Amino acid sequence: MRYLNYINGEWVEPFSGSYNTNSSPIDGRELGEFPASSVEDAQRAIASAKGAFSLWKSLSYKQRASYLLAAAAILKDKVEEIGYDLTLEEGKTIAEGIGETQRAISILEFFAGESAQSIGSVIPSSNEKTLIYTKRIPLGPVGLITSWNFPIAIPVWKLAPALIYGNTVVMKSADLTPKSVYHVISAFHEAGIPPGVINCVFGSGRVIGTELVKNPDIKAISFTGSNKVGNGIKELAISTGKKVQLEMGGKNPLIVLADANIDKAVDLAIKGGFLSTGQKCTATSRVIIEEKIYDEFRTRLIEQTMSLKVGNPLEKDTFMGPCVSHSQQETVLSLIKAGKQEGLLLYGGETLQNPNLQQGFYIQPTIFEIDSQEARIAREEIFGPVIVLLKAKDYHEAIRFANDTEFGLSASLCTNNLSLAQEFIDEIEVGMVHVNSETTGAEPQVPFGGVKNSSYGPREQGKTAIEFYTQVKTIYVDQL
Ligand code: SIN
Repeated sequence: MRYLNYINGEWVEPFSGSYNTNSSPIDGRELGEFPASSVEDAQRAIASAKGAFSLWKSLSYKQRASYLLAAAAILKDKVEEIGYDLTLEEGKTIAEGIGETQRAISILEFFAGESAQSIGSVIPSSNEKTLIYTKRIPLGPVGLITSWNFPIAIPVWKLAPALIYGNTVVMKSADLTPKSVYHVISAFHEAGIPPGVINCVFGSGRVIGTELVKNPDIKAISFTGSNKVGNGIKELAISTGKKVQLEMGGKNPLIVLADANIDKAVDLAIKGGFLSTGQKCTATSRVIIEEKIYDEFRTRLIEQTMSLKVGNPLEKDTFMGPCVSHSQQETVLSLIKAGKQEGLLLYGGETLQNPNLQQGFYIQPTIFEIDSQEARIAREEIFGPVIVLLKAKDYHEAIRFANDTEFGLSASLCTNNLSLAQEFIDEIEVGMVHVNSETTGAEPQVPFGGVKNSSYGPREQGKTAIEFYTQVKTIYVDQL
């Protein structure tokens, strides 16, 4: 099947007339053709978003919320079908594919609910007769550049706040996972969203993304993806006067102290490190274990990992599917190769040998042991099913290791010691802290984002999303 761009309320062919064939990382089957759009397509989408802005911002919050709720209801009716498509194009398990679609629905419902929340405050004036208040106003057309690892949740967590606060949108979906975004756009189309409020252009980031970042009619860019691309976007977007929000990499540590419940800690390491094939910005990639329990933890982790079913993610009992693409598989394998020279490979490290899976991009869940954080596998984001184990003398050494990274997205500590947990909450240099839970996960009603090189700009999601998608207007009202 051939899919089209969505511009000004219509499905339209790209100017180039060219399409890219999308295929599944599970077995290489073809999934459809998506536009290989050009700069002209992006410009047409931007003009459409610009044209729709004055109507959209003039609607009440309640009217705008009605489109979010209608789209959520449409997605709900198709949750199994969309979850299946997501798994086919991204490779995460079917339970994760359906779960992520449900999460997108919850995000839409949360931001529809924000339509009844405060958008400003009243501040006392030094003049007793003057009323001073602030209100949040939309920015204009915004560009949303989204990643392939959460191909429906991340587009929706940018789209929903952008729309509810009165902005119009040009969406650039990740090349590898266009069908998930297509489902979201179709749901809004079916919900009757006014033409031009949402526009979506499929194609290369280098072409479409660059135009969004450069074009003066786009007032803000929200991006999720790699640090390399994100830093390039930051420079260009700031030089054209835009607001910028970047969600990039992580090297998230899980610290396991000697008093922790070892079974629970092993479970957290496995889920955090290997679910979604480790392709989460919040994935657990370093496990730092207090030396008293190191050997026991390592043994149990390897035993549990050996029992995981890795393979076709459409089969219900599969724990872990393939990498998203051949190139991602190659990147992960090359870091594993480096790891074999720098550390001790405890488990995995190879592609799967099953003859039925040779058309897909599978890698075994992989565990390394290292004795120094200088190893590349301890410093670079891998974005694959690889975790490294590191022994620490005590909590203080563990937190030093944990903070020894350029990243600061998320971290977790396993302990029953409340005072050390509180110390950890204060000392760990990340945007999202967990105690006795996975490093992964993102509830829609709370802020998402990191510190150091993980993020830039205001937080996504929750009530804080308003910071990025609006600006403040201050109003003085006096009596004559
Ligand atoms: C991500 O890590 O990329 C998204 C948030 C999550 O579910 O962990």
